[in-house]
Parts: sequence; structure tokens; C-alpha cells
Amino acid sequence: MFSESENHQAHGLSGGTTDSSDTHTPLYMTAAEEAVDELERVSGVHPGYRRAHARGFCCRASFLPSGKAAPFTTAPHLQDREVKAIVRFSGSSTDPALADLLSPAKGMAVQFLLPDGGHSNMVGVTVPVFFARTPESFMEMLTTLNRTKTGQMPKSEALRRFARHFSESRQSLLALKRLKPPASYATNLYYCIHVYMLVDADGRRRPVKFEWIPDSGVQTLSIHDAAAMPDDYLERELELRMLAQPPSFKLSIVFGEEGDPTHDPTKRWPSDRKRIDAGRLVLLEPIAEPQGLVMDPTAITEGIALSDDPILNFRRDTYAESLKRRSGGH
Ligand code: HEM
Repeated sequence: MFSESENHQAHGLSGGTTDSSDTHTPLYMTAAEEAVDELERVSGVHPGYRRAHARGFCCRASFLPSGKAAPFTTAPHLQDREVKAIVRFSGSSTDPALADLLSPAKGMAVQFLLPDGGHSNMVGVTVPVFFARTPESFMEMLTTLNRTKTGQMPKSEALRRFARHFSESRQSLLALKRLKPPASYATNLYYCIHVYMLVDADGRRRPVKFEWIPDSGVQTLSIHDAAAMPDDYLERELELRMLAQPPSFKLSIVFGEEGDPTHDPTKRWPSDRKRIDAGRLVLLEPIAEPQGLVMDPTAITEGIALSDDPILNFRRDTYAESLKRRSGGH
């Protein structure tokens, strides 16, 4: 397993050596640098943009907790006081110019602004599972895709490699295939995928997953109708919707049971798990993106802890690397 300390080593996932097929790779890279390089190969470098979920739209929001999560966590935003939040909706593509219709999965990243001046993030997407179980496997799939595209890898070899990962990617591919174009960013169900631990006042830890459920219900468009929309129809629609009536989401917390996996983002939990309605997020108005905003899903407050999911733990350094590059104008 890929531990957090290993993420910080100056050795990449591929062992930190050069690959003969890529003469531009320096000798020693961190795993996060390698991952972000590989993301940049998907659609090229778009200076100033995030290396994934490149195009997005930010809103000012308010979260009113229901108090039902308070017995399970000391997290300040899950008690009984309203907190402010920043929400960024995004298309999943690495290319900021790609039409909304063409990037199937959408993202919703929430940054709760805590009373002590700190913050806590919660990042969701419209599919319930990820396609890779470990950073190594994520990298192998991404490099295979990129190298096949540029003709550096024969298709037969690519197929052999993808077949190796088929069982872990299957649920995610099926979910992506079932996705229909959303009617609005405000009418999607967003899954935060990874397991987190809620920590109560006595230090007891309970595994949970977070989901954002739209109050207006899940609404989709036919491909035909979505194809007639402007490339950025989701941003335009959300602006208009916020003027008419503030859209809102319910935060649903799902509790894991004995034996439910905590380390595997490719696996769902059984659908009968206990849930609580932890509060309501209301989208208030569009805002310009705050400078330096990074929705690192490992940046969380006390009362919530990371699980042993290696993908979750790997995301911290890759998001920091992407921020470093985009803030430097690259
Ligand atoms: C190995 C796994 C992953 C890698 C390497 C990765 C990488 C990245 C990078 C580099 C960014 C841009 C960060 C920035 O510049 O601020 C990003 C953004 C994002 N990622 Fe991931 N990611 C991974 C897994 C996931 C998963 C499992 C989810 C599902 C919840 C996810 C959802 C998102 C979303 C919604 C954004 C946009 C955040 C925002 O609006 O600021 N990613 N990802």
C-alpha cells in the first residue's frame, strides 16, 4: 500500500527513473509531479488552469447544519451554527475549453469557512466510485491512455494493460456510461467517494461517506437537447437559477458497518446503510474565484479524519503541485 509518507519522498510512482519513451522526464520526480505531468499530457498545458476539472464556476454559499451529526463529530460546521462556504462546480476535463456536454462527470467542491478562520473541504463528483484503487494503478491507466494516443504504445499492449485493471474500473466505467447530461449543476447528486472518519468528543471514530443530494431532484437532458445548448450552458443556467431562487443541497452522511471497505474508492457500500441528514447548503450568488483556492480533499477540520484510502491520501500532494503550477502562470 502507498503510505502518506511515501507520497512525500522524492521518488515517483514509476520509481523515479527516466522512461526511454519520454526523454523530457527528469531523473528524480515526486509521485505528485509525475501524476500532474501525466494529467498535462491528456490535453496539453493550459496556463493558469487547474490540471484537472479545469473549468469551473464559483458561488458564495451558506451551510446550516441540522445538528444530527453533532453526537458523532466535533467538526465545527456540523454542530448547530450556520457557516459560510465557497462552492466550485466544474467539468472533469483537463481542457478548460471543452464544451459542458463533452465532459461527462461534473464536480462540486465545497469549502466550509469555519468560525476560527480555518476551513474544511468536501469534494464530490457525479459518479459514486473512482476508476483506480491505488495511485500506481491510476498512473498506469493514465500513461497507457496517453501513450496509445500518441502512438508510443501499441494498441494490443494498451488493451492488455487495461484488462489488468478491468475489475477495479468496471463500476466507475458503468457509472460514467449511465451518466446523462445534467439539466443544471444544481440538479446533480454528488458523491465524495472516499471514506472519512467522524470523530466524536470521546475520540470514537466512525467510518462515513458524504453525499450532496439536490433539493430540486436529479434532472437530466437528452443528448439531443444538450447538444443544442451553448458550450457553457451549465454556468449560464446556474447564474439564472440563483437569481430566481437559491438552489440547495442536503448533506447526507452514510455510516459504514463492520466489514465495509474504507481503503477502496472503487467500491460502493450496500445501499441499506444508515444515513443522517446533516444540514442544508444554499447557493447564494456567483463570485469570482478567490485567489489561491485549492479544494484539497485532505484539508479537513478536527472532528473528521482521513481514512486509509491511498487515493485520498495521494490527492494532497497532486493538488498542491497543480496549484503551484497554475499560480506560477504555467
Ligand atoms: C489519483 C487520483 C486523483 C488525482 C491525481 C487528482 C488530481 C486532481 C488535480 C491535479 C486537480 C486540480 C487541483 C487544483 O489545481 O486545485 C483536481 C481537481 C479535482 N478533482 Fe481530482 N484527482 C484525483 C482523484 C479525484 C477523485 C477520486 C475525485 C472525486 C471526488 C476527484 C475530484 C476532483 C474535483 C471535483 C476537482 C475540482 C476541485 C475544484 O473545484 O477546485 N479527484 N484533481
